[in-house]
Amino acid sequence: MPPLTIPDVDVIRVTGGVKLAGEVRVVGAKNAALKLMAAALLATGTSVITNIPRITDIALMGEVLRRLGASVDFDDDLVRVEVPDRLRPEADYDLVRRLRASICVLGPLLARCGEVRVAHPGGDAIGSRGLDMHVAGLAKMGATVHSEHGFVVATAPYGLHGGKISLDFPSVGATENLVMAAVLARGTTVIDNVAREPEIVDICRMLIAMGASIEGAGTSELVVHGVDALQPVTHATIGDRIVAGTWAFGAAMTRGDVTVHGIDPHWLEIALDKIAHAGGQVDHDVDSFRVRMADRPRATDIRTLPFPGFATDLLPMAIGMASVADGLSLITENIFDGRFMFAEELKRLGADIHIEGHHAAVRGRERLSSAEVTASDIRAGAGLVIAGLCGDGVTTIRAVHHIDRGYPNFVGDLRALGVEVTRAEAPADPVYGF
Ligand code: EPU
Repeated sequence: MPPLTIPDVDVIRVTGGVKLAGEVRVVGAKNAALKLMAAALLATGTSVITNIPRITDIALMGEVLRRLGASVDFDDDLVRVEVPDRLRPEADYDLVRRLRASICVLGPLLARCGEVRVAHPGGDAIGSRGLDMHVAGLAKMGATVHSEHGFVVATAPYGLHGGKISLDFPSVGATENLVMAAVLARGTTVIDNVAREPEIVDICRMLIAMGASIEGAGTSELVVHGVDALQPVTHATIGDRIVAGTWAFGAAMTRGDVTVHGIDPHWLEIALDKIAHAGGQVDHDVDSFRVRMADRPRATDIRTLPFPGFATDLLPMAIGMASVADGLSLITENIFDGRFMFAEELKRLGADIHIEGHHAAVRGRERLSSAEVTASDIRAGAGLVIAGLCGDGVTTIRAVHHIDRGYPNFVGDLRALGVEVTRAEAPADPVYGF
């Protein structure tokens, strides 16, 4: 795995004016693999998760699990998680602040140990990220949850019990925590208005293979009949639809021709429909798709929504395509309040973007103007690199450690698709004194 400390001063430089062309294969989805690793905590013994991406967030999750008392061993594209009978149910701030997804150990640890303390992750560059639905759901299962000294503390000394939970919004993280808590609860838990993302279906598949009783995965209601214990399993992670979608938009924006393998194209149906609407030709196969764009993309309105809607994690790519499209596109973000921070960086590349609340009006221009920009999160980083391919020279993207969190071998894949790209250490910022 990549080392845990990656210098945050690395830059990627890409030369614009290239058409992305060729074939790439995506590996396991970050947002599935992270939670599958947490799900392993639910059974004593060794679970093996295959097809994991070699990215920083997975290495960090390995460290989170080790500090909880598990042995974690990475070997090429698989991870073995050996879970002892007794875990240490506390996740510290130093890791949680670097990996917000560590909050997904809340449900499994509460189910296993009857108590848990997880540092409050706080908000981040894409916006405020609440936990109220996680907390309210666990309380419905009999837990007492409060905040103290920066930690979310949950206890259920007599174990969790079933209950009826209705989520205010189909939150991915709350759905995952609640289903992972419910599998070992006494009785039946019905969770309504849950998230339906393919990654959640993948987690349910692993839990069912471990012996859990879950009905309704992939629908908006989950019915979980608690069982006494689960067994460790071997499970293969599903392909990463967001990485796949990044290449799809990259192909469309650069008027290229890219085939992406390792992904069920149904998981990207709306995104691929939008690319087709913009003038692209999209061909589907069982576990691959091809995107070709012969001319300049046409302006296309896009709004993000929970799955099966257009994924918020592809918003930077959607704005990128709009910024070189012919006409005016209206892009609406409905999930995270800070996601448009990315657009401010894209404006440095000359994109014509007007933001009003959670809407962005984007008037495309033929070519972007290469410049130096800074990544603020994983998807913004990848979006800026892809936008740089439409520049009139060399674009430098700073703080690319964000990209390492979610895209394995990003530079290698870009090269394979014909991009002139380098990665280097950026000169350190000078420190000024008084
Ligand atoms: N929310 C609340 N209260 C809650 C839970 C969520 O208000 O109790 C709000 C959040 O503040 C946010 C919205 O609901 O505005 C959606 O949050 P959700 O819980 O669905 O997202 P998440 O679990 O925090 C995961 C992914 C994100 C992805 C979102 C939406 C992981 C580790 N992260 O986050 O992925 O954008 O679902 O699909 O699975 C990324 O990979 O770059 C990334 C940010």
